[in-house]
Amino acid sequence: MDSVGLPVPNSGDSAVDAAALTVTAKEHVAEGVAALTLAHPDGARLPDWTPGSHIDLVLPEGSTRQYSLCGDRWDAHTYRIAVLRESGGRGGSAYVHDRLSPGDRVGVGAPRNHFPLVPSKKYLFIAGGIGITPLLPMVRQAELLGADWKLLYGGRTRASMAFREELTAAYGERIHVVPQDEFGLLDLAAWLGAALPDTKIYCCGPAPLLSAVEAACAGWPPYSLRVERFTASAQIAPVRNTPFEVELRRSGRTVTVTPGVSVLEAMRRAGADVLSSCEQGTCGTCLTPVLEGRPDHRDSVLADHERAANDCMFLCVSRSCGDRLVLDI
Ligand code: FES
Repeated sequence: MDSVGLPVPNSGDSAVDAAALTVTAKEHVAEGVAALTLAHPDGARLPDWTPGSHIDLVLPEGSTRQYSLCGDRWDAHTYRIAVLRESGGRGGSAYVHDRLSPGDRVGVGAPRNHFPLVPSKKYLFIAGGIGITPLLPMVRQAELLGADWKLLYGGRTRASMAFREELTAAYGERIHVVPQDEFGLLDLAAWLGAALPDTKIYCCGPAPLLSAVEAACAGWPPYSLRVERFTASAQIAPVRNTPFEVELRRSGRTVTVTPGVSVLEAMRRAGADVLSSCEQGTCGTCLTPVLEGRPDHRDSVLADHERAANDCMFLCVSRSCGDRLVLDI
């Protein structure tokens, strides 16, 4: 059966017509964590994805939330995500926990990957809490490829650490489980104090953990560390504080962006149909190709070499260094 065509955000596909998938299972996998299995109502094959990919759930009021795919990438007919209930959140996780049930339909955008697993002989995966979700398919991939890998997994308590038991059962001593109430914080100095040859580090979790890992890896070779953030990293002031123009090449419109207004907001005011989710530069939903001009990158997703290419930007936070940008939208 053909795969269904889920729309890719801000790439010329419809930004709002997500495919409706069916919730086929909902499980409680840890304290405050619900896992959903999603499938096409007709049983159609779903678009392929790679470890580190995420999807957007489009909630009934039209807002979107981004979740990492944590299931089996070789299962072509289902997606699996795990959602932490966030008490101070914007209501997306509460909706998933309290309202979504098996049999319900939910809008889903196509998988996108801003946290890809690059080839390496050795990996060190570091997860904090729900940050385990994008790393689950990575450890499976590393195992399949015969890489030498370890997972350092921290969390508040054992009960709060999703997939802890299945990881330990499957991979034994490769998994290092560190509940904070038993052992304290992860001992990053011991794990990262000296650069390990040929080793890539992938880390996902709360901001303090990411900052601590980045600091601990300061002496490692460039590009050794890749992180995925849930919250935006601190940004310096924009490069310019004067208006600039953004040409939307495909639609033939030009929008003026004034200080204090995001490119995303200016485009929406001009009637452009643009998908977004976090609006903090962390999820990647609003990624848009840049044809001309130099973006003032203010996101928490792109690596330095990706920023230097100046061929894409995140509309919710990034701005322009010059008078004009041209976008492929
Ligand atoms: Fe999340 Fe822009 S909406 S990065």
